Amino acid sequence: MAGRLTGKRIIITGATGNIGKEAARSFIAEGARIVIGDLAEEAGRAVVDELGDAAHFVQVDVTSEASVANLIARGVQWLGGLDVLAQNAGLQRSGPIASFEQAAWDALFAVNARAHFFGAKHAIPYLRQSGKGSIINMSSLAGKRGGPGLVAYSASKGAVVAFTAALALELAPDNIRVNAICPGWVDTAFNQPAIDFMGGADAQQRKIAALVPLGRQARSDEIAPLFVYLAADESAYVTAQSFSIDGGVYNG
Ligand SMILES: NC(=O)c1ccc[n+]([C@@H]2O[C@H](COP(=O)([O-])OP(=O)(O)OC[C@H]3O[C@@H](n4cnc5c(N)ncnc54)[C@H](O)[C@@H]3O)[C@@H](O)[C@H]2O)c1
Repeated sequence: MAGRLTGKRIIITGATGNIGKEAARSFIAEGARIVIGDLAEEAGRAVVDELGDAAHFVQVDVTSEASVANLIARGVQWLGGLDVLAQNAGLQRSGPIASFEQAAWDALFAVNARAHFFGAKHAIPYLRQSGKGSIINMSSLAGKRGGPGLVAYSASKGAVVAFTAALALELAPDNIRVNAICPGWVDTAFNQPAIDFMGGADAQQRKIAALVPLGRQARSDEIAPLFVYLAADESAYVTAQSFSIDGGVYNG
């Protein structure tokens, strides 16, 4: 039986991590072939072993344009073209602005924001060749709504929301769609810096109970279906959007 992504050729970054790995698993379950780009080489090869023949790993450091260009070129070579670029790699640092170091600010912007520019720039020629395409950018609820200790993370993720809207308008004539995903709290170790800033796991649980209308964090496998939808042709008329998937926080 054909899947929702049968024939799709996808490059996804940050897919040795929690959310990205679930998205990668779902892409393959729906019939796609995928290339995973990640800094973590050993973990990347282990994920590809687990996912099987439809997955291939290329090491990338998304803070380097040359490295991203290499990922796209080698990915396209393995896939035979490109239909979808999912930019999911991300970094979290948390702390009060008065003691926040420039190095941490720059690291967040390099991974969370600038990398999206590199990926799109190098993928667009191949997406144009396909006659249609989808770029999926990982942002965050923090890109739409701030929180204490999150100035740099929020600013870097807010940049992704604005980048997504601008790029979508530029690429619409090419039938290339650009959308962003904005998860709220997802239960992964990624948030440890923010949890430490809040005062630990109990304080985080109290905050979630007070803030999240659905009363809990998301699981990574609850974000993956949105990746699949945005990669599939069923979202052919959807572009320039930043989708909250946050248990109701943004409009709560
Ligand atoms: N966990 C959450 O609550 C949450 C909420 C909103 C948005 N997000 C976003 O979702 C994405 C995935 O988060 P996660 O929770 O799965 O975290 P994670 O730490 O498990 O995954 C992050 C991935 O990015 C990779 N990465 C980091 N720096 C890189 C670099 N320089 N080059 C290449 N790869 C690099 C890591 O190796 C890892 O595979 C991130 O962009 C994050 O900002 C997470």
